[in-house]
Amino acid sequence: MAEVAVALSDVTLIFSDANGDPVLAVDDVSLEVPQGQFLAIVGPSGCGKTTILNMLSGLINSTLGTVVKNGEVVTGPSMDVGYMLARSALFPWRSARRNVEMPMEIRGVGKAERRRRADELLDMVKLGDFKTKFPSQLSQGMRQRVAIARTLAIEPKLWLLDEPFSALDAQTRITVQNEFLRLWENTGSTVILVTHDLSEAVLLADRVIVMTARPGKIKLDQVIDIPRPRRVDDLLDNEHFMQLEARIWKELRDELV
Ligand SMILES: Nc1ncnc2c1ncn2[C@@H]1O[C@H](COP(=O)(O)OP(=O)(O)OP(=O)(O)O)[C@@H](O)[C@H]1O
Ligand SMILES: [Mg+2]
Repeated sequence: MAEVAVALSDVTLIFSDANGDPVLAVDDVSLEVPQGQFLAIVGPSGCGKTTILNMLSGLINSTLGTVVKNGEVVTGPSMDVGYMLARSALFPWRSARRNVEMPMEIRGVGKAERRRRADELLDMVKLGDFKTKFPSQLSQGMRQRVAIARTLAIEPKLWLLDEPFSALDAQTRITVQNEFLRLWENTGSTVILVTHDLSEAVLLADRVIVMTARPGKIKLDQVIDIPRPRRVDDLLDNEHFMQLEARIWKELRDELV
């Protein structure tokens, strides 16, 4: 049996709204993710996907239930998690390259190695000619690619990715998804990917979870038994991929009213 990377046990999260009234965001969710698994979470807007990532990263604490990572209860943020927030902000006063270097700086990686790795990752996300540009000189999709490169600059035990590819045009998205798969396949890291794109979830993940509309509960937990290594563009007309996507879509569409 693989080691458990993260486990949510009967986790409930209640926010309070502007009037101080309770908002039930996550309703009694239990979930176990083995080390090295690529899990995708899909569900309607507001169903609690980002809230789950925030709890896993230690940014917020569950109201009820426990969140365990690597065998320990999560009580706050830690260095072994790479979290790419939706609309991840770059540091405006740092160039693309220096943004990507940031997490390596924090971990004490030497300057030459940092630079080498940052340049390699920026080439990978097709920003080789923009290394010295500042965020204000980049388009939205380019900034997102810098944020992806920054997230990939370290190889944490756990990646939490909140809609990382959403602002990319279709062509770039396929390239970056393929590169991400290639990189991840050699790491043994666990990935939890939140996405609105069901095809993306099925193409990339080992397992897809569908959540209900708020308050979010797990509605479907589907294994994606498509062999690896995968290439996104080869799979788009694959029969098994289409069957899986159709099965999951049936569950998801009822929640999207
Ligand atoms: N800080 C907060 N205070 C109060 N309510 C909140 C807070 N953060 C989130 N919520 C509420 O909790 C619910 C879940 O929010 P969450 O951001 O997790 O949804 P989501 O599934 O990530 O949605 P989306 O797909 O739009 O990103 C929503 O109804 C939202 O209004
Ligand atoms: Mg969200």
